[in-house]
Amino acid sequence: MNWQAIYESRKCSAKDAVGLIKSGDRVVLAHCLGEPPALIQAMVDNAEAYEGVEVMHMLSFGSGAYSRKEYKNNFRYNGLFTSANTRLSIEEGYGDFTPVFFHEIPGYFKRGIIPIDVFMVQVTPPDKHGFCNTGIVADYTMQGIESAKLVLAQVNDRLPVTYGDTTVHVSKIDRFVEVSEPIMEIFPVEPDETAKKIAEYCVDLIDDGSTLQIGIGAVPDAIVKGLSCKKDLGIHSELITDAVLDLYETGAITNQAKSMDKGKMVVTFFIGTKRLYDFADYNRVLELRTVDYVNHPATVARCSNLVSINAGLEVDFMGQVVSDSIKTRQYSGVGGQVDFVRGASMTLDGKGKSIISMTSTAKKKDGTLISKIVPYIGHGAAVTTSRCDVDIIVTEYGAAKLKGKTLKQRARALIGIAHPSFRDELAEEFEKRFNAKF
Ligand code: COA
Repeated sequence: MNWQAIYESRKCSAKDAVGLIKSGDRVVLAHCLGEPPALIQAMVDNAEAYEGVEVMHMLSFGSGAYSRKEYKNNFRYNGLFTSANTRLSIEEGYGDFTPVFFHEIPGYFKRGIIPIDVFMVQVTPPDKHGFCNTGIVADYTMQGIESAKLVLAQVNDRLPVTYGDTTVHVSKIDRFVEVSEPIMEIFPVEPDETAKKIAEYCVDLIDDGSTLQIGIGAVPDAIVKGLSCKKDLGIHSELITDAVLDLYETGAITNQAKSMDKGKMVVTFFIGTKRLYDFADYNRVLELRTVDYVNHPATVARCSNLVSINAGLEVDFMGQVVSDSIKTRQYSGVGGQVDFVRGASMTLDGKGKSIISMTSTAKKKDGTLISKIVPYIGHGAAVTTSRCDVDIIVTEYGAAKLKGKTLKQRARALIGIAHPSFRDELAEEFEKRFNAKF
C-alpha cells in the first residue's frame, strides 16, 4: 500500500480514535506542546466509557482535565512531572507521581519498564514522501511512537516542520485525526529587580564561547537578556524559549565555538510564542534531538565550556537542592536538572559549571517570607540535586561555589547569600548543627 492509501484508510474522527482506548490502558501523552488537545478533549468527553485508564506525561500546559476528582474512577493521572493543571490530584491521593530523570524516559519505554498501550501525539500533515513531523518536541515522543501498541495522532497544519529526530512515517501511526488549531503560546514573564540581580551574578559566571543549557521562567529570561554582551555562545539545552531567539538575533549566539553539533542550536523541545514557532519552521539552525541524546550526561559531558542553569526551591546547609517538592507536596519533577548537573561535572574539557539559581526567599500564603536556604530540608521533601553533585548556588545576594568545600564551609557560603533578615537565625542554627562557632 502506498503512503497516501495508508493515510486515507487511517483517517477518522477524534471520537472514533479515542473509542479505541480500553479500560485499564496506559495512555501516554506526547510531551509539552506536542500533546494533542483535540484528542485529549475527546478522551475526556468519552470518560464514561472508561474505568481506570492511566494517563501519563511529563510537563503539560493543557487542561489536565483527566486528573480532576470528578473523573477519578475513569482516569488515573500518573505524572512524570507535574504542574498547576494536575498537581492537586497527587495531593488529594487519586493521582500519583513517578520520579525519573528525563534522559531515561525513552529507555523506560523501550525496555518495557513503562509499557505503553496508547500514545497520543500531534503531528504535521505528511510531506510528499509520507513523513509527518512532530514539530516542537522530540524528547520521549519519538520513542513513545515506537513503543506504543496504538498511536493516535492529531494532524495539525499549524505545527512547524523542524529538523532532527522529528520525522515519523505515516505507517507508524494507527489513526489520524485532522484538526487545525493554533499552537498554544507561552509568553515570557517580565523579570523583576530580584530576577535581574540573580541574572547579573549568573552572567558573570558565563564566558564568551560557552555552551548553554537554560530553562524557563523570569530568572532564566533575565539571564539570557543579560548575555547580549557575550560572543560566540552556543546552545545545547533541554529547551529554549523566545528569550533565546532574542539573544540569537543580537548575534551573541553563533554556535561556532561548540564542540558538539557545531553551528546548530540543539534542544529536545521548545516553548514560546508564534514568533519562535515561525523561526523554527524549516530552520536548519535549530535541531531537535531525542532526550536520551540531548540530556544524556555523556552527551552533555562532551560539550565544551558548558554552563547549565536550573532552579531550586530549597537548599540545605550541605548543599542538597530540593527542586521538585515542597515538603511532601509534589510540586514539579526532576526533569533534566540532574542530567545537566551531572553532565557538567563530567565535562571532558573540565570546564563545565552547573548553577542552581533561586530567589533567597519565598512568600507563604499569608505573605510572610521564608528563607530558601535552610539548615535542614523540609520534612518529606525529596533531594533533587545531591550534595556531591551540586556546584554553584546563586541568589540575588551572590554566588556560593560549593564543590570541594566541607560541610561547614558550604553552610557559611550559603548563609552569606541568604536574605539578610535570616542570616542571624541561620548562623545560630549553624552553631547548633555543627557544634562550632559561626
Ligand atoms: N518553601 C515553600 N514554598 C516555596 C519554596 C520554599 N522553600 N520555594 C518556592 N516556594 C513556592 C513559591 O512561593 C511559589 O509559590 P506559588 O506557586 O504559590 O507562587 C512556588 O513555590 C514556585 O516557586 P518559584 O521560586 O517561583 O519557582 P519557579 O516557578 O521559578 O520554579 C522550580 C522553580 C524549581 C520549581 C522549577 O524550575 C522546576 O520544576 N525545576 C525542576 C526541574 C528542572 O530543573 N528541570 C530542568 C529545567 S529545563
